[in-house]
Amino acid sequence: MTIDTKHKSYVFQKKIAEKGLMCVGSKNDGMYLVLEDPTTGEQKTVLDGISGAAVCSLGHNDPEITSQFTKWAEESAYTFGAYYGNNAAEELSKFMCDRSKGAFDSCLWTQSGSEATENAIKIMRQYHLERGDDKRYKIISRLQSYHGFTIGALSVGDGTRKPPFKKILLSDDQTPKMPQLYPYRDWKEGMTEEDYTKHLLEQAEKCFVENDPETISGVIVETVGGSTVGTPTPPKGYLDGLRALCHKYGALFMLDEVMCGLGRCGYDFTYMHPDFGLTTGGPDILSVGKTIGSGFVTLAGLFLSPNVCKVFNEGSGYILGAQTYHSHAFTCRVGLAVQQKIVRDNLVENVRVVGGYIKEQLKEKLKDCKIAGDVRGAGNFLSIEAVKDKVTKEYFDPKLAVGPNLHKRIFDKGVVVMGASGTVGYEYHGLNDVTAFGDHVMIGPAFTATKDHADIIVNAIVDAFYEAEKDLLG
Ligand SMILES: Cc1ncc(COP(=O)(O)O)c(C=O)c1O
Repeated sequence: MTIDTKHKSYVFQKKIAEKGLMCVGSKNDGMYLVLEDPTTGEQKTVLDGISGAAVCSLGHNDPEITSQFTKWAEESAYTFGAYYGNNAAEELSKFMCDRSKGAFDSCLWTQSGSEATENAIKIMRQYHLERGDDKRYKIISRLQSYHGFTIGALSVGDGTRKPPFKKILLSDDQTPKMPQLYPYRDWKEGMTEEDYTKHLLEQAEKCFVENDPETISGVIVETVGGSTVGTPTPPKGYLDGLRALCHKYGALFMLDEVMCGLGRCGYDFTYMHPDFGLTTGGPDILSVGKTIGSGFVTLAGLFLSPNVCKVFNEGSGYILGAQTYHSHAFTCRVGLAVQQKIVRDNLVENVRVVGGYIKEQLKEKLKDCKIAGDVRGAGNFLSIEAVKDKVTKEYFDPKLAVGPNLHKRIFDKGVVVMGASGTVGYEYHGLNDVTAFGDHVMIGPAFTATKDHADIIVNAIVDAFYEAEKDLLG
């Protein structure tokens, strides 16, 4: 294979040998990316409807924040968290715990969501050890979930990216799985919301009972699933019921809000959502990431409930292990500024308003589209599932790769979204032989997106769906 020298990549990422389109900056209000073809130098400006990977809460550029980087860098000295704390990490933790209205008492700041999951698995284990219980080592999670790409995170997750690595992951015994949360297909006609919740909780309890409840350390679920399944929201009572089940069996209840949280679904914490959230308090552990630093810095973290903190404080008083960049001062300072701005400018409400408008528009404009099976999600974290038949919900032949195909069609209209296959499930036959069933397109624009941006996103998606309908169904 000969590669144009201008196109040769030295970065071991994605298609390794070739650069592909390169991002050379952002434009206007930080909502637009400028992408360049390295061979021709040709540039294309696109509206980012998914804020990278549901990351850039304030868009790709915010001079109010970035203009202070030099000052903050000069004020920050690197220290190893195990020896010395820093004010930025303390202030960020206090600010975020206050926003949780008492649900959390302490935070751990990491560099990525995967690292947050890794730390959570260990914190759960240490929690039980602190209480003198050495028997608990298993983490229950859901099929078709995503919690990151490191070994522990991939073990508790599921999806097409997992099978090639199965032999080097935690065992199935250590990571039992509950069925996928998938209201569009599993909330059968005639079932009330209460019935569906009951059904899900019965499945969850079965998973506890079949895996020796006394060995379960904790349960990890995404409050609203992300890229694997396309933003399904749980039914009312499910999260309350799952937390109660965990506590009945002595396990910890953790919610992963790395992708769906901190305003993305229209509330400060997504478990606070009035339609499907917890009715009181919070989970024992919560993971966050992505939007917290708006992509200006690599920041993610964990929130710990007062009960978890109490067990540690009354036990050893220490968390075992520290990583070099935990609680990094500069990173936390930027994260704090991003979060303060989100609160000051009421941007979570903007997510609710603009996201609500997008959902309404998509539902209305796609109601006659024969391949738009379901429009779902919360806040501006929204998806459209593509199906071959709206009545039977039959999905398209995986060979057609309808999700990626829609992604490309929408991109060609000047909008970036996430179009994927594998929504329903997958079969793995070998490294280059994975069949991914079901397709969806997902969006999650910056919290600063306006109705004008919303119209551009909606129109590109709607046009692409109708065009695809014509090509696929004739
Ligand atoms: C729900 C969820 N958890 C964890 C992660 C892992 O985060 P990161 O990619 O920052 O490691 C992701 C990333 O997409 C995610 O969506």
